[in-house]
Amino acid sequence: MPDRRREPANAPLPSPFPEGWYFVASRQSLDKAKLIKKTWMGEDIVAWRDENGSVCVSEAYCPHLGADLGPDAGGCVRGGRLVCPFHGFEYDTGGQCMATPFDPPPKAARLRVFETRDIAGLIFAWWGIGGRPPQWHLPEETPDQAGWSNLHSWASRFPGHPQETTENSVDLAHLRHIHGYDSVSRVEPLEVDGHFLRSRFDFATTRRIAKVGRLRLSISANALIYGLGYSFVEVRERTIGLDMRLWILATPVDGTHIDLTVVSQTGPIRNPNRRVAGLAFLPLRMRAPIVNKFMAYFEKRDVLQDVPIWSRKRYRSRPRLSRSDGEIMKYRTYCAQFYPDLLAVVEDFKKVADQPAVND
Ligand code: FES
Ligand SMILES: [Fe+2]
Repeated sequence: MPDRRREPANAPLPSPFPEGWYFVASRQSLDKAKLIKKTWMGEDIVAWRDENGSVCVSEAYCPHLGADLGPDAGGCVRGGRLVCPFHGFEYDTGGQCMATPFDPPPKAARLRVFETRDIAGLIFAWWGIGGRPPQWHLPEETPDQAGWSNLHSWASRFPGHPQETTENSVDLAHLRHIHGYDSVSRVEPLEVDGHFLRSRFDFATTRRIAKVGRLRLSISANALIYGLGYSFVEVRERTIGLDMRLWILATPVDGTHIDLTVVSQTGPIRNPNRRVAGLAFLPLRMRAPIVNKFMAYFEKRDVLQDVPIWSRKRYRSRPRLSRSDGEIMKYRTYCAQFYPDLLAVVEDFKKVADQPAVND
């Protein structure tokens, strides 16, 4: 007799590289370094820009005889073109070889390039299963920058998966337990529209600012998720009226590790006269920068509280959920679309299963 109590096997995540848009570098870092090489989605890539500001993200090995095009191997950018260190072939930002030192450039000498998108100076590239072109896009509009601070960013590399890090925007129970937030409540059900997902929730938290004072913050978070590499969170603090933006960008590196880049930006304080315990002695003009600085510090502290969990956890395909967990399974259903090769297998399987058996 079959054992009915036997647990179905725990299925692993379908792939370390879900299809989508992933962060590559900031425009600022590209301007500074001129040429960047990194490992991304299990392969080596290079990124550079020309004088018109066009950015190219491409494979890191020359189509001629395979030299490493990275800066450590001697690759460089000259006149907006990437120059190979081996025989001097020059590539434009479309990936085409435009010149060689000796002969006319072979037409077939062309780098495999990834489509890019720039949002507020953050450069993303599309990674499609089997190299297929973008199936959907990041938000059309760059958030308005007027009155907002410069972007502040930091990054951490650890064993992890972008589906697991993004899941934290839906997992409301951890906000209380790890981060110590209170009054956590979902504002509306998860909204899913194709590749887009919105998670809105409120919470409150008390933050101690060294010996200076305590801030009681009442926060509304609006997480706008475009695939598993791009989460944008609008944070609205209601007591002092502080707006903040967070980009939480998970980029798979090698199949085991991810680079988690957190970019933040703060808006002006809307109620600067509002009395905040301990800050009353500060001149008004000093309050916004000090509060901004502490907000950035706390946001980093929060993410660092999650990192040890992410880097050690095992994916549970059949989590044993409690009522307060929220809509984890709805989120997972949304995630399935980013593994289209797996979906194709499921569709094929369904087709075969639907066919009448020959002997019927
Ligand atoms: S290998 Fe790059 S120019 Fe020959
Ligand atoms: Fe978290």
